[in-house]
Amino acid sequence: MFRKASLLALIFYLSAIATPVKQARGISIGLPERRSLTKADGTFDYDQAVLQTRRTAAKHRQNLINIQRNRERKALNDDGDAENQERSTITFAPESLSRRQSEPLTEEQEAEWLGNITIGTPGQPFFIDFDTGSSDLWVPSSSCTSSTCGPKNKYNATDSSTAEPQPGSFGITYGDGSTVSGGVKTDTVTVAGVVADNQFFSPVTTLSDNFEDNPIDGILGMAYPELSSLGQDPFFVTAFSQGAVPKNEFAFKLASSGSSLYLGGTDSSLYTGSIEFHVVSGSQGFWQIGGASIAVGSNTAVSNFQTIIDTGTTLVYGPPSAVETLYSKIPGSEASNEQEGFYTFPCSSVPSVSFSWDGGNPGLSRVPSKVNLFNLGTAGEGSSQCVGGIAGQDLGLGDNVWLLGDGFLQNVYTVFSFAQNAVGFATLA
Ligand SMILES: *[C@@H]1O[C@H](CO)[C@@H](O)[C@H](O)[C@H]1NC(C)=O
Ligand SMILES: *[C@@H]1O[C@H](CO)[C@@H](O)[C@H](O)[C@H]1NC(C)=O
Repeated sequence: MFRKASLLALIFYLSAIATPVKQARGISIGLPERRSLTKADGTFDYDQAVLQTRRTAAKHRQNLINIQRNRERKALNDDGDAENQERSTITFAPESLSRRQSEPLTEEQEAEWLGNITIGTPGQPFFIDFDTGSSDLWVPSSSCTSSTCGPKNKYNATDSSTAEPQPGSFGITYGDGSTVSGGVKTDTVTVAGVVADNQFFSPVTTLSDNFEDNPIDGILGMAYPELSSLGQDPFFVTAFSQGAVPKNEFAFKLASSGSSLYLGGTDSSLYTGSIEFHVVSGSQGFWQIGGASIAVGSNTAVSNFQTIIDTGTTLVYGPPSAVETLYSKIPGSEASNEQEGFYTFPCSSVPSVSFSWDGGNPGLSRVPSKVNLFNLGTAGEGSSQCVGGIAGQDLGLGDNVWLLGDGFLQNVYTVFSFAQNAVGFATLA
């Protein structure tokens, strides 16, 4: 007995030594400054906001389709009872949204959190939007036939010694019928020195006009595998499983300058105090936390709702009726464009609007966070009304779900922890 136990201990010891640790610590990647929705003359950039709202709506409609497909895949694999798959919880964006998406769009430079990655061996560089609201990686393919691909960096599998073809296909469909679509490959993906081998991604051969004049080449999704259109692990999940990062979490600082993404932990120089964690609710695959409320000044306007934390979205969206209730607590506010869900308020008194969450760890302070991008600019030249940074939109995510983009995220240090299955907020340093 004794000898057997010693041998086992030795085997465990040796296998611990043999495990390659490619990266002993977290790595920070700089993210360039993003463009605001306020034009140089101080007016609200309505066309840009509408464009972004449509992109956000299309992304989340695709997420809901992916969730359903992944459940069906799982049901097939599990050989289980299909009635247990909770399909009824999926709701799709209403028809009216699809119609709106088909309107011609004014294209201007887009705004996301961007950074450099490489794919392949040797590495082919791409300029990427890091998106906690989706779970796939895609970049343009060298055989892309859309004119939109013209000026962008393109991936050529022939030039990479580590590229492997994979079965299947990838696609996001927009309301106007245009798509981002392509085949599937695996290859080595490197982000700020963090390497994921055999990462699934799509080199897209069709790229919707939605991405014309947009500086990004592609998107790197950072939500749970359940949202993946490819039905595969996203980059960070692969990287952690291969030992490329020490901790199963990543964190964003999103600011008008000095933004960064930290892979494999948190950058303690970027926040003060403790991190208030909130356990992810539901199992759909979003970074979603419940028990939220929103206040105007110190008065709670709406409470007990769910929030999805999405670095790939600019604005903050809530269900139309809840957002109407919110603005009813802001004196002098009025609906400015009912179809797009925007409201205005008197520029002379910008309200202090904050989110907070119940059910955090006892003893941790709540992080009431101002929507500091709440003022998106004047409603028009010479107008004394300003456009508010929270819009009412039915994105199909559920009638009690708000989507928090960087209008909120710029106020806090945000930690996305697979290790704790939680989202954490801390005060920016
Ligand atoms: C990304 O790479 C390009 C060159 O490939 C470089 O000019 C640019 O500064 C890089 N951006 C960041 C944020 O590292
Ligand atoms: C991909 O790279 C190979 C080898 O460099 C080249 O011959 C081929 O033309 C490239 N394909 C495309 C579509 O650019």
